[in-house]
Amino acid sequence: MSTSEYKSVAAEGDLPVSATELAALATQLFAASFRPGPDSPPQSAPVAPRGNVPDVTAGTSAGNAAAGSVNQYTPPAQFVAVPDVGTAVPTSPGPEGIPPQTVPVAPRGTAPDTTAGPSAGHAASGVLDPLTPSGVADLTAFAVPSGIVPTIPGVLAGTAPSVPVAPRGTAPGWLASAPTVPDLGRSTGPSPARTPAGDEGGYYFLTKELTPPSTAFTPSLPDNHDVFDVNALRADFPILRETVNGKPLIWFDNAATTQKPQAVIDRLAYFYAHENSNIHRAAHELAARSTDAYEEARETVRRFIGAPKSEQIIFVRGTTEAINLVAYAWGTKHLGPGDEIVITHLEHHANIVPWQLLSQRTGAILKVAPVDDAGNLLLNEFENLLGPKTKLVSATQVSNALGTVTPAKKIVELGHRYGARVLIDAAQSVPHIPIDVTDLGADFLVFSGHKIFGPTGIGVVYGTEEVWEETPPWQGGGNMIADVTLERSLYQGLPNKFEAGTGNIADAVGLGEALRYVEKVGIERIAAYEHSLLEYATPLLGEIPGVRLVGTAQEKASVLSFVLAGHEPLEVGKALNSEGIAVRAGHHCAQPILRRLGLEATVRPSFAFYNTFDEIDVFITAVRRIAEGSA
Ligand code: ALA
Repeated sequence: MSTSEYKSVAAEGDLPVSATELAALATQLFAASFRPGPDSPPQSAPVAPRGNVPDVTAGTSAGNAAAGSVNQYTPPAQFVAVPDVGTAVPTSPGPEGIPPQTVPVAPRGTAPDTTAGPSAGHAASGVLDPLTPSGVADLTAFAVPSGIVPTIPGVLAGTAPSVPVAPRGTAPGWLASAPTVPDLGRSTGPSPARTPAGDEGGYYFLTKELTPPSTAFTPSLPDNHDVFDVNALRADFPILRETVNGKPLIWFDNAATTQKPQAVIDRLAYFYAHENSNIHRAAHELAARSTDAYEEARETVRRFIGAPKSEQIIFVRGTTEAINLVAYAWGTKHLGPGDEIVITHLEHHANIVPWQLLSQRTGAILKVAPVDDAGNLLLNEFENLLGPKTKLVSATQVSNALGTVTPAKKIVELGHRYGARVLIDAAQSVPHIPIDVTDLGADFLVFSGHKIFGPTGIGVVYGTEEVWEETPPWQGGGNMIADVTLERSLYQGLPNKFEAGTGNIADAVGLGEALRYVEKVGIERIAAYEHSLLEYATPLLGEIPGVRLVGTAQEKASVLSFVLAGHEPLEVGKALNSEGIAVRAGHHCAQPILRRLGLEATVRPSFAFYNTFDEIDVFITAVRRIAEGSA
């Protein structure tokens, strides 16, 4: 056939095969005892009722190939429906010459215990040979050094900032209760074994006597530390020991990217030293290790954001790719001429441009909810934009340029009230604010790994089962297919359907480690501590002659944008760099909101939990010197 005859299947009626051929195909899919990956045939056809999704652990991990029921996904109409014809002999080789077969899958709810190391199966063998990451703080072992005593006048003079208990001011609205050490429900023992299925196909790693790797990665921090000791935490981040221009590095560019704890650095090194393999594809030990590590990372993301099922978590390159996925795949299908998309004036370019492109493709209309001069979203005006034509609301939870915390839950409620799907951009909120997607109710939630102490090049799209069901694939290729002939393709279910090609396996694993690190520190305590940094710095900066604070919303997180009269932001940024202080100076990929406030650029210090009150003092002194013309 000529290439012009290649056809992807967009609707069941378009299938270039007869019912008989479909039945034969289903037969192939139903054969047993092979561990397929996404480049391999479907785990099993036929399909289950709508609302279920395939068990992603099935066929993706040797260890997860335990016996159990197959919970399958019913493809929407545009996908191929494979009739249930029962078990039969394969009729032809599957893709890449391998006969399609069925894989037993683990029952749901048996996600691997992420505390037990990279491979539940390996841990289950009871043999752990820990590689202890260097530079990892035992938080319980550190006294609070005098050096972190906040040098603020008033009540806290001489008192170390001890979280829980926000040192000053009122707790932000989004921090509902006093921070506590989260109970992660961890066990200290090994996790459940990767119980071999009855028919393991003879693979050596699918036995009860699993051979553990020579070393196993150990969790980075002890649990149940009860002191927020910023110096102990700082010791976990080797880059914070750098000097710049002869001065200790002060990293105030956390909204652009965060630094990585040793645990994440070690986890990446461990992956490449002990686990590196492509996932899902091969019948060998390292594929099992890398698959386990990758799927454990997915499970960690699920737990971190409170998602119901790990397969609802799709790994992508970052927030930008995440929003583009939704715009391209979901948006192209569901929007048409005259339909409306509502965003806010606070958005990052990544939450503007994909919708402009989508509008150009579909004839949809992009509407923008306004903010006031302080950067507060005008909720009434936002609601006034909603109506029967609104198909999608896409809004940030924290503005990267101003630090405004938006009423995300209310935005979701209002969007749903008008029948729209709602995407929440959590790129700037997930490192700073506790998030529970189930409580939030968003249809999609997206974020980047590198802003939450994980690697660059990895990010997440969470979607409800309902929205994923109504979303076609966006990229085609390996990993996302169940079966390919030259005439048509069958797709995998979640999550593989949206993960075409070889993904960023190692960095997903690194992200999982970063989230475990944050869990151990405690996101509520992080939120409270950072809020105290912001409340400390804001008035000190604001009182410097010539400083205009940009973004003074009622609810803020982490970001302190400003301009200084008589000094270009870039000039201020460079002057601060000469003092070892890293800030971002520019438009922060958020030109519309800066222009709304009459600016093209600002200087933007942004904090993380490893920053200190002392660092803020150094920064304030430096800005004051620049303002006075003495720097
Ligand atoms: N979005 C990142 C920032 O705000 C790059 O700096």
